[in-house]
Amino acid sequence: MKDFLEISAIGSEGLEAILDFATADLPPVLAGKGVALVFEKPSLRTRSSSEMAAVALGAHPVYITDAEVGIDKRESAEDIAKVLAGYHSAIAARVFDHRVLERMAKALNDSRAGVPVINLLSDRSHPCQAIADLITVKEHFGSVRGVEMAYVGDSNNVALSLAEAAALAGASVRIASPEGYGFDAATRQRLAALGEVAFGTDPVEAVKGARVIYTDTWTSMGQEAEAAERRAAFGPRFQVNSALMAQAAGDAIFMHCLPAHRGEEVTGEVMDSAASVIYRQAANRMPAFKSVLYWTVAG
Ligand code: CP
Ligand code: NVA
Repeated sequence: MKDFLEISAIGSEGLEAILDFATADLPPVLAGKGVALVFEKPSLRTRSSSEMAAVALGAHPVYITDAEVGIDKRESAEDIAKVLAGYHSAIAARVFDHRVLERMAKALNDSRAGVPVINLLSDRSHPCQAIADLITVKEHFGSVRGVEMAYVGDSNNVALSLAEAAALAGASVRIASPEGYGFDAATRQRLAALGEVAFGTDPVEAVKGARVIYTDTWTSMGQEAEAAERRAAFGPRFQVNSALMAQAAGDAIFMHCLPAHRGEEVTGEVMDSAASVIYRQAANRMPAFKSVLYWTVAG
């Protein structure tokens, strides 16, 4: 049993194993078991892909909203985790505060519950998304190793997991964020120690010659009050449009974890272009979660 909270925590061996599982015919190791899917925030892709992946491994997924459980309001995150462990073989959760996931994992580890905790997105990271991203890059280019990637936009949860995954898998990533929206010095140092990750504030510099151009929303869930301020800080320079894509390699693909805001961080033209792999990427959330779930309970 292993938790899946951060890409950096599973290391390159864990990452390699999970990517291999994505193309394997996995046995239904969770037949007759439950998988709890707890959501403090909305979701289209993560909820559907995790439910279907749990079913594919033989499990019965139970979708639970925070309106019902009230994490740290109705009862503590620790008590919720320990109660859910009585019915489920894995607990996957999407939370505002990453520390809630760590507390759940610690409570289950301390009580030797033998039930893993899986991060379905927190304010810090989105590791299940990064697995789907690497599956997509591998599917498209045949390998992740050596692929030059550029991430243009907010240095957020998606960017962190992508950078960790790409670095561990031997790809390179150049991240361009506006001043004040980049990773802090400690995070930069940690990422640079994992592999080839570079940081800057110039989107054109970042995308030059890159084969993957990736962006995400300028305003993540929980930051809605900052939306106007963020639009002013990012737009129009950090928008991925046809002019920016033209600076990339001739065979570059466009990626976005979705949901996207057409006309803000990316134009509709780029989203719908031949270079765009966004719907493959979204579809790959299913094998990604199936592999992650398998790795946590049986890997
Ligand atoms: N990319 C992603 O996690 O989408 P949802 O928020 O819809 O799950
Ligand atoms: N960065 C976005 C990703 C959504 C899937 C958010 O946290 O809202």
